[in-house]
Amino acid sequence: MRVAVFSAKAYDRRFLEAANSEFGHELDYFDARLDAATARLASGYPAVCVFVNDRLDAATLDALAAVGVRTVALRCAGYNNVDLTAAETLGVTVVRVPAYSPEAVAEFTLGLILAVDRNIPRAWSRVRENNFALDGLIGRNLSGRVAGVVGTGRIGALVARMLRIGFGCEVLASDVFQDPDLVAAGVRYVPVETLLREADLISLHCPLTPATRHLIDARAIADARPGVLIVNTSRGALIDTNALIEGLKSRKVGGVALDVYEQEADLFFEDLSNEIIQDDVFQRLLTFPNVLITGHQAFLTEEALGAIARTTLASLAEVEAGREPVNRVVAAVVKG
Ligand code: NAI
Repeated sequence: MRVAVFSAKAYDRRFLEAANSEFGHELDYFDARLDAATARLASGYPAVCVFVNDRLDAATLDALAAVGVRTVALRCAGYNNVDLTAAETLGVTVVRVPAYSPEAVAEFTLGLILAVDRNIPRAWSRVRENNFALDGLIGRNLSGRVAGVVGTGRIGALVARMLRIGFGCEVLASDVFQDPDLVAAGVRYVPVETLLREADLISLHCPLTPATRHLIDARAIADARPGVLIVNTSRGALIDTNALIEGLKSRKVGGVALDVYEQEADLFFEDLSNEIIQDDVFQRLLTFPNVLITGHQAFLTEEALGAIARTTLASLAEVEAGREPVNRVVAAVVKG
């Protein structure tokens, strides 16, 4: 199948080309991010392949359908950037990669927690300057702390296990469904309000939906434990960033580690080191000594990129063969 690959980076091309030897699709790569204006680049392609910050709203999907696109293949798990109702109305099939390597994201989450909790990036900058003083680098043990995991799906369940079994935390969890294996491992399910109130460390692993948007807001921060550590490797808009900044300024929030950010679409995945960043909220976040931010890289492992490429190309092969794709995303499932 002819596929227009948007937001294509060198690593996307490397892993897609390697996996494509098995499938033989015709893949063309575009640096551009997909939106209503760039959709015309897909003219003549029955399928587009996109990533987390490509915008598949109704206008883009209309434009894609008008130039003949019938399939959208997301090379990611989340699908909050797609108007699925519009896609269905237009007869556009949407596929995703539901699970490529939850370990990649879970392990990175633990890395962020340790890094921010133990001041590892600050310590490393000091050592590089031959400053071996330890003042200001005091951390906290994870062992014995109360960790709250919101969303115990593929990634959250692993994080809960790592915190509980690996680090000896008391783990509270919140989800629409309870995982009996986690309960057997000593994880305690509680309502989300209880978790947000009682946890010393809150790690977010639920999807972004209207119900979870700004889950961490001024109210949640006011109710949280003093010095709470907030970690988000899921989707930026789970946190109200302005409320987070106020929480940091008042010292109610003791540490923050983010791999995702509400307005990341204007920043992440590009080298902007020669630009003047216009996002004052993001710039303010960077000024706090107890904030650690990475640019949506929790998924970025050899294993995950290989699995993403294989699953995406297999879904496109299913569509081409006229079969119902296993990893199809449908509107009713999402909003539920
Ligand atoms: P999953 O679908 O396996 O798990 C999500 C869990 O959240 C499910 O158990 C679901 O029942 C639960 N949930 C839904 N609504 C909830 C609510 N209101 N409160 C509490 N729990 C709720 O998804 P997976 O694979 O674990 O991914 C989690 C999130 O991580 C994804 O939605 C995606 O946005 C993000 N992600 C981030 C990556 C990164 O590189 N930073 C890479 C991959 C995923």
